[in-house]
Amino acid sequence: MTALEDWDDGPFRPEAVTVRVPAKINLSLSVGPLRVDGYHELVTVFHAVSLYDEVIARAARGLSLTVEPLRRDSDVGGVPEDERNLAWRAALLLAEHAGVEPDVRLTVRKDIPVAGGMAGGSADAAAALVACDHLWGTGLRRDELHDLAGRLGSDVPFALHGGTAIGTGRGEHISPVLAAAGMEWVIAVMDGGLSTPKVFEACDLLRSRDGVTPDAPQVHPDLMSTLRSGDAELIGAALYNDLQPAAVELMPEIGELLDLGTAAGAAGALVSGSGPTTVFLVDGPVSAAEVEEQLRTSGLCRAVRRARGPVPGAQVSNVR
Ligand code: C5P
Repeated sequence: MTALEDWDDGPFRPEAVTVRVPAKINLSLSVGPLRVDGYHELVTVFHAVSLYDEVIARAARGLSLTVEPLRRDSDVGGVPEDERNLAWRAALLLAEHAGVEPDVRLTVRKDIPVAGGMAGGSADAAAALVACDHLWGTGLRRDELHDLAGRLGSDVPFALHGGTAIGTGRGEHISPVLAAAGMEWVIAVMDGGLSTPKVFEACDLLRSRDGVTPDAPQVHPDLMSTLRSGDAELIGAALYNDLQPAAVELMPEIGELLDLGTAAGAAGALVSGSGPTTVFLVDGPVSAAEVEEQLRTSGLCRAVRRARGPVPGAQVSNVR
């Protein structure tokens, strides 16, 4: 036996793995008719922004989960610490798929607004998949992880993927899009959230009230060409969300914030996903400061944040 083999006591098993995962916004969200399975057929352009949650997976006996704020001003109110948490279900699903025991202590450190339309719960599930895969040494292929992600929720595959990408089906089929780097965003975080199913339901109700029959969803061709140009004014004008009227109906302050940010010089203003978070595309630091100031002093939102996009999806940031 060589000296090297003397040292070899099997594969390295980490004690703790940290994964950082971004929030998403939807640069466009086109919602089609309600399907028989209760979901809406949609076409969306997902865009990952630099607002992050972290999931730490530690070696343990059995499965447990705690939630804590990542920053002092992050709100984690109402996030469950049991099997109702999508990160818990992600760990269980991976263990079942890989044929291992679900032995892990998960800590979910949140900064992505809760129930904010930025897919925070989905991000945590994607991060838990990547963290547990690393901790347990299960070494799943990218496409296997993607498949498990899609079973957990419509937005989970994109949280793995990151960048800028088109989502189709119920949002789970992802294909990357060529987009200029370095878009700057100002983000207004509301007090309280909106329930995604309620917003989709309100969208259907508004459509039937107005006698509108939705067409097959599609991405506006203008958005695809402007995304490559990187021109904030052009991209801002092409941003689009079919769920916006429903979110504004359920929470009218959203409409006021959109008007305020636009008047303050934002190149584009949009509800993120099913809301209530609103996002403002800005063209440089002067415009960002002006929009930020107007939103902050409005008294209509809980916090105002800055972020840039696109950024990569869930990634291991620390192993020990
Ligand atoms: O897939 P996920 O669990 O994130 O979806 C939450 C809810 O949002 C669904 O139960 C459904 O009511 C609504 N939804 C929808 N159409 C989609 C995605 C979500 O109606 N494409």
